[in-house]
Amino acid sequence: MSRLASKDLDTAAREIANAAAAAAAGLAPPGIAPPPPVAVAKPGASMQSAVPPAVAIGAAVGAAAAGAAGVDGNAHAVAAAAATQQLLYEQLLEHVCPSARDEWKADSFGGNLRLSIVVLGASGDLAKKKTYPALYQLFKKGFLPRRLQIVGYARSRMSTPELRERLRGYLDTGDCECVEQFLNACSYMHGEYDAAEGYERLGTELSAWEAQMSVGTPTKAHLAAATAAAQAALAQAAAGANGGAQAVGSPPGVAAAAAAAAAAAVGSGLHGAAGPGPRLGRLFYLALPPVVYPQVCEHLRNHCATLFGGGGGGGGGDRGGRGGAQPAQGSFVRLILEKPFGSDLASSEALANSIGAHWPEEQLYRIDHYLGKELVQNMLMLRFANPIFSAFFNRHYISNIQITFKEPFGTEGRGGYFDSYGIIRDVIQNHLAQVLALLTMEAPVSLHPDDIRDEKVKVLRCIAPAGLGDCVLGQYVADKGQPGYLDDPTVHPGSRTPTFAAVRVFVRNERWDGVPIVIKAGKALNERLAAVRIQLRTPPASIFGPLDHMRNELVVRFQPGEAIYAKMVVKKPGLEMDFEMSELDLSYPERYKGVVIPDAYERLILDCIRGDQQHFVRRDELRAAWAIFTPLLHAIDAGAVPLHPYPYGSRGPAAVDGFITDSGYVRTEYSWQQAHPSHHPQMSTPAQLAAAAREAAAARDAASGAAAPQGAAAASGSGGADGVSSAPTPAGKL
Ligand code: BG6
Repeated sequence: MSRLASKDLDTAAREIANAAAAAAAGLAPPGIAPPPPVAVAKPGASMQSAVPPAVAIGAAVGAAAAGAAGVDGNAHAVAAAAATQQLLYEQLLEHVCPSARDEWKADSFGGNLRLSIVVLGASGDLAKKKTYPALYQLFKKGFLPRRLQIVGYARSRMSTPELRERLRGYLDTGDCECVEQFLNACSYMHGEYDAAEGYERLGTELSAWEAQMSVGTPTKAHLAAATAAAQAALAQAAAGANGGAQAVGSPPGVAAAAAAAAAAAVGSGLHGAAGPGPRLGRLFYLALPPVVYPQVCEHLRNHCATLFGGGGGGGGGDRGGRGGAQPAQGSFVRLILEKPFGSDLASSEALANSIGAHWPEEQLYRIDHYLGKELVQNMLMLRFANPIFSAFFNRHYISNIQITFKEPFGTEGRGGYFDSYGIIRDVIQNHLAQVLALLTMEAPVSLHPDDIRDEKVKVLRCIAPAGLGDCVLGQYVADKGQPGYLDDPTVHPGSRTPTFAAVRVFVRNERWDGVPIVIKAGKALNERLAAVRIQLRTPPASIFGPLDHMRNELVVRFQPGEAIYAKMVVKKPGLEMDFEMSELDLSYPERYKGVVIPDAYERLILDCIRGDQQHFVRRDELRAAWAIFTPLLHAIDAGAVPLHPYPYGSRGPAAVDGFITDSGYVRTEYSWQQAHPSHHPQMSTPAQLAAAAREAAAARDAASGAAAPQGAAAASGSGGADGVSSAPTPAGKL
């Protein structure tokens, strides 16, 4: 307060008031930085000006405060003013121009978060292909706080400029200025994973940055003073701006409402928020092989877990604390961990124990990127917001369920990793088991992350371990010029690692008992696809004759081309009373034209910054998922399950057809005659449409760095591994 007193608050308040009134009248106050441009997402008729008047007022108030208080270089007062300005933006947008609010999500961090993101393994593939690009997208869209540093840490000897150069090629370069700004926030530090020295340096650097970012942190007294000034200014603006506010296109009363809203917000929010320090956040992203997790986690805990001013290092919660001036409420230290989490139940538990010895569960974010996919996230809504679906989601109506993952390329380049895991550990135990849990769980008590995860754990625990007879395994062999799995030089000669698996499980509870659920996944298949197919029973006592081959199916396709559709029987249009299969179709590219679906990593990192663990795997979920597959995996490792060869680019081993039929699946007589001809006016035959879908998939794979095989899409004749009709399925429909 003593430093602030050097600037006469009355004078500051007068200047603020003048600036606010001037802004309300649409005049730019001399010497005051204009407010940043606000992109109004859906401007209402009365909100056409580029900067809503209320925001202008808020900006002017803050800027004037900053200008006035900054005359004598009083950093505390400047910061107080800036905090006021920030709050005003948020509150004014909230009350006056909600449509612009989304553009200001960055401010959902309260404008007060200083965030350090540390990417461990920064020189690796995952970091450059996934982590940094996702961070860049968040940065570009304004979802990262303005006070941000992204520190890369890895063993490679590299300078910060070298890291930036390396990353540049992986960022979407549409907006060069933004790329440069992002790269400026990125730095690099070399260090070992198994020695304390590097982490000590890292911890020191993080604290130094946080200290620097905390200079000028407003104390409660400063904030109260700034609040009083802002309130006075806004009251004056409301009273005096009358004509002025309208002159800049505001509807009558907006300025007054803005002032009232801001004053109320300032009164309640700012006083409440006032604390001794800013919010600090440290997010450690472990883009590393799990074998180093235990030592990395220990070193991070010992050297990098305590925020500047104390806090974050405690065991119980995000803030913890060791006394002294603590960072503000909501400060955090969190870890994002990548799979694989062990290779069976025992090793996963051992890993979890060694991590858990240093980090409590609430600071751990185990990423499963399938939980970041749009339609996986939609599962909760689909299940519990639509009686039309929830009514038949049980053993009385559903005959069987298939959860399918198909990739049109083999292990090219990463056989080393894959060979020691195989397809069940790589995809089924994690990604597809998560989908299974969301699909079959009961309604959670609330949307609280732990309520949702409780239900997932419950249903996973109802699933009996998969038996040997409940599995078909395959390994791809060379075909049509494409190499077989064993031709991959990074694969052990003679390896028996499955690249395809179909596993049947049953949920032993009242809702699902007796419904076979087939989870199948394979590499080097005929297409790219991740989908869930829920097949209903044949209608009883059909008056139309046998309808067994025209069963209803609800399909949720995660990729490519997100879609939810239901296959159903309809009267064939025309004079005759014939019927045929058609579909209710919610294809996202159609229904949500122009909507960009964010990348899974983008969403999940943002969730972590926000402290939302809903889409991250809790330790007991992981344990329950491993329990389902561990006995089978041990049997497979012991060579007790036959391995069927299948040609590269086919639909998988032939043996799977019978397995799927035995699981109750009935191939429907379904062939889509004409797929949205308006999309492809020049292509109308199913074969042409299928070819277009294959090309699109290949292009996507090439773009994502995965080597898509040439000609790998050739289907393998009638009846496929996915039990789908051999008739061409236009536009990628099942
Ligand atoms: C990864 C697996 O977790 O998921 C890969 O390790 C697999 O083998 C990938 O290719 C699939 O992810 P997506 O998002 O392309 O379906």
